[in-house]
Amino acid sequence: MRIRKAIIPIAGKGTRFLPATKEIAKEIIPIINVPMIHYIVQEACEAGIEQVIFVTASGKFAVEDYFDRNQELEAFLERNNKMKELELIRSIGSMVNVTSVRQKEQLGLGHAVLCAKSMIGHEAFAVLLGDDIVINKKPAIQQLMDVSLSQGGASVIGVMEVPRSETNKYGIVRGDIINEKTLKMTGMVEKPKPEDAPTNLATPGRYILTPEIFDILENIPRGAGNEYQLTDAINVLCQNRNVFAYQFEGERYDTGNVHGYLDATIDFALKDPQTRDMFIASLKKRLTKNGITL
Ligand code: G1P
Repeated sequence: MRIRKAIIPIAGKGTRFLPATKEIAKEIIPIINVPMIHYIVQEACEAGIEQVIFVTASGKFAVEDYFDRNQELEAFLERNNKMKELELIRSIGSMVNVTSVRQKEQLGLGHAVLCAKSMIGHEAFAVLLGDDIVINKKPAIQQLMDVSLSQGGASVIGVMEVPRSETNKYGIVRGDIINEKTLKMTGMVEKPKPEDAPTNLATPGRYILTPEIFDILENIPRGAGNEYQLTDAINVLCQNRNVFAYQFEGERYDTGNVHGYLDATIDFALKDPQTRDMFIASLKKRLTKNGITL
């Protein structure tokens, strides 16, 4: 069956982006002039997702507003004959059907996904985490959907190789190799120390899950960080159902931290023909001005 719904948890406080996140949602912080959340929702839309469910907390209204129509701004742009801008604003407002549910306490990613249970019902769904932007012609989540389809609608976890020293930042999968890119999972562990990690295959926050995950989430104890972990529920799911891990293609940016955010900003500036030459010229000039030779 086709995957129609995606959960995007956005209740996090964004402490790594303070002070910006003191008053604005981290997801609204732009890379150049496009809010980070735009890229996540765009990936879902390009993969055919019809409904996005944001799991939110207080102070996140701007994310929902961003994907809504803004009649006042549209009227202003129309009056001023700014038709290109008008078209852009309208297209964002009608990009996808958005609903939201509150996560009243920040009890972990597993808890956040469970908050959306009643909005999903009995169908498989996607989860995309907002801290990771993945750029690829064929969206990463679409690649996972295709694997799921070819495996009879099974759950599929998107993975990428990380240095051993970084396994303690991610959910890490273990399993039996099916082919170069696919594992049949036998388990998953949240943020293991490098010496305890079963593999160096980490999930950067792209999942296709079957609805049995909700019953599991309702029954798991708190895990790493004293939080209800999605990883722990997937680990249980592996014991009862076929779950696959798939190394998707794409350039991934960890925009949850300043380094990854800078990488994304530089790459996006270089890839966009509108900013490329300007950016290179600016960078050369600024390096010279600051006495830096490469
Ligand atoms: C969460 C998940 C983890 C995943 C990571 C990807 O951790 O719990 O399994 O690998 O996102 O960004 P967090 O970074 O929220 O601590």
